[in-house]
Parts: sequence; C-alpha cells; structure tokens
Amino acid sequence: MPIPLIDLQAQYATIRPDVDAALRRVVESQQFVLGPEVEALESELARYIGVPHAVSCASGTDALLLPLLAMSPDPGDEVVVPAFTFFATAGAAWNAGFRPVFADVDPHTFNVTAEAIEPHLTERTRAIIPVHLFGQMAEMDPIQALADARGIQVIEDAAQALGASLTLPSGTVASAGTIGQFGSFSFFPTKNLGAFGEGGLITTSDPELADRVAKLRVHGGRQMYHHEMVGTNSRLHSLQAAVLRAKLPSLDSWQAGRRANAAMYDEMLEDVPEVLPPTRLEGYGHVYNQYTVRARRRDELRAALADDGIGTGVYYPVPLHLQACFGELGGRPGTLPVSESLVSEVLSLPVYPELGPERVAHVAERIRAFYGHP
Ligand SMILES: Cc1ncc(COP(=O)(O)O)c(C=O)c1O
Repeated sequence: MPIPLIDLQAQYATIRPDVDAALRRVVESQQFVLGPEVEALESELARYIGVPHAVSCASGTDALLLPLLAMSPDPGDEVVVPAFTFFATAGAAWNAGFRPVFADVDPHTFNVTAEAIEPHLTERTRAIIPVHLFGQMAEMDPIQALADARGIQVIEDAAQALGASLTLPSGTVASAGTIGQFGSFSFFPTKNLGAFGEGGLITTSDPELADRVAKLRVHGGRQMYHHEMVGTNSRLHSLQAAVLRAKLPSLDSWQAGRRANAAMYDEMLEDVPEVLPPTRLEGYGHVYNQYTVRARRRDELRAALADDGIGTGVYYPVPLHLQACFGELGGRPGTLPVSESLVSEVLSLPVYPELGPERVAHVAERIRAFYGHP
C-alpha cells in the first residue's frame, strides 16, 4: 500500500466543487491582487484565530519579514530564534537587517523555551521569535514574560500552527498568533490550510502595528505613489484567497483527522522503545502539521519505509547555527546540543487527515516490524 507523506490530491477530491467555484468567481471578476476576496479572507481568519487584526501577505516568510521591517532595526540589533526550525525564521530576521541569535530547543516538544532563550538576551536584543513547531505552541507565558520584562517584542512563528492553542495559567485558552505582538502564518500548500501556491498572514491586536505592516506589504504607503516607508510587494493574490476561503470551513474537521491519526500512532508506538513519539503538553491543542518522532537508526528506518512505499520527511537535517550562510555569526558544533542531535533523530510520518486508520496502522506496523516488535 503506497502511502505518501502528503497527499494534496486526496484533499482536493473532497472539496473540488467549492474550490472550483471559488476560482471561477475570481476569474469572472478579473480582480487578481488584494481586493474583496482578500479582505473577506482576512476578516474570516481574524475571526477564526480570535484576533482583532489579520493582514495577509505573499508568504509565511514575508509574514515574518514585514513585522521585523516594521521594527526599523539598527545595524547590530539582534533577534533570538530557535536553532531547530525552518530556515525562514532566521532568514527573515537576517533579511530585515537583524543579527539572528540561536537558542536551543526542548528535546520533547522541539520548541524553544524561556530558559533556553534567556542566556542569549543582550542589550541589543529587539525581539524573540518562538516557533510553534510542527503544530504545537511554544510555552508562551514565560517567553512573553521575559520579553515584557525587557520591553522587547515577540513574533510568534505560527507558520505550522494555524488553529493551535494553549491554556494560560489564568485558565484562558489562547490561539497561536494572539499572544505576541505579532503572529505569522503560512499558507504554503502543505500547511493545514494550504493555498494553491504561496500565501501568508500577519496577526496583531495593535491597530497601529496592523496599519504599519499593511503599508509595508504595498511599498510602504496606503495612497498610491506616496510612500511613508520603504516596504516591498507582498500582496496576496485573490485566487489564493478564494481557495483558502473555500477550504476554511473544513479546517476544524481536518485538524480533528490529524489529531485522530496522531493519537493512533501514539498508541501503536507506545511500547516501541526505539521510537519516541512527540510530547503533547497538557492543555495544548496540537494541530499536527507534522507528526514527528525521534527514531533510533533513523536513516535506516526511513529507507526501509521508503522500500515499502511509505513517504517520510526529515524536518530539519541541519540546525540553523551550523548553516553555511550563517558562518560569519560564529556558530560552532557542540554549542546547541539538543538541536544538533535532533537533526539525526527526527522523522515525520504521514499524518494528513484523509489518511485514515488503516493506513496509519500500516505505517505503525511497518515501524514495529523494522525494530523487531510483533
Ligand atoms: C516554521 C516556519 N516558518 C516560516 C515558514 C515560511 O513560510 P513560507 O514557506 O510560506 O514562506 C515556514 C514554511 O514552511 C515554516 O515552517
């Protein structure tokens, strides 16, 4: 039974009439950039996330870049980011003019923590970017407290975590992208809510910050040919907005499907000591953009699964402090040990909602068999 890591065809098959009608609507309107479709998406997503302002942009990378540009960095200003994340988290900081400073992550949740961040804060730190990796939120309360005590900003990299939540010490349930000054989301096709191309979203509860990033996405001004700031072109296309709007009503059931698949893997791999399933924190709503285990003999397991037609992913194979392009920042092996060991242990298994229990069981059984467990 061939099982790909991701199957976008399977999702499209379930929503084809709605998506096709949405695409046609935009084609008939001949309004392709920003416009009413994009505005409708922004307000629907603001409501879904539970945040006052949602500003779309061209990608998840830009959803990080624009808030960082809005901070007008001086040379040498620093942003603390996890070493174990997708490249864009640090790349956006660099491209905005910041020096990325790398912090280690927790080996069980894969997320950066306040304890790991604190030693890296300096007089030059302007912001922290916690990443809600694989769909579970970072422990935001202590991170936000750390930032508030120093008057620095928090930008939540929620690219993989639309709809994820956590329970604050007060008992309030907060969604990804509602806690920091900004939340940044991606609509890359493989995300839980994926476009037919690129797209991103910035959330904030501050109307001035929302206005600033909205200007930065259209070259720094609301009025054509009048520029208050130097921004860029990062507008969302109406066709993408229409696809996302057609998909949004299904998102909660897709998240439930991912959670059911994850729960089944958890159970079927529980007594396999060679595989550590991801830790879900109490009170956290994980949306499993990836179901990522830590596996002994990871590369051999991956090859054996590939031989059986089972697709897997390695997110991520190189920690960011050891990326060639950041060599001048002086990152050395041995300095961020958790990130450095995760890169050779992590394996993401198929978890897309249409997978269903039979295929999940098949993948789990193949993993059990690889390690010699009946
Ligand atoms: C954690 C994280 N941050 C940022 C991004 C960037 O998003 P995009 O690919 O839409 O630019 C991604 C995309 O994979 C991501 O996973």
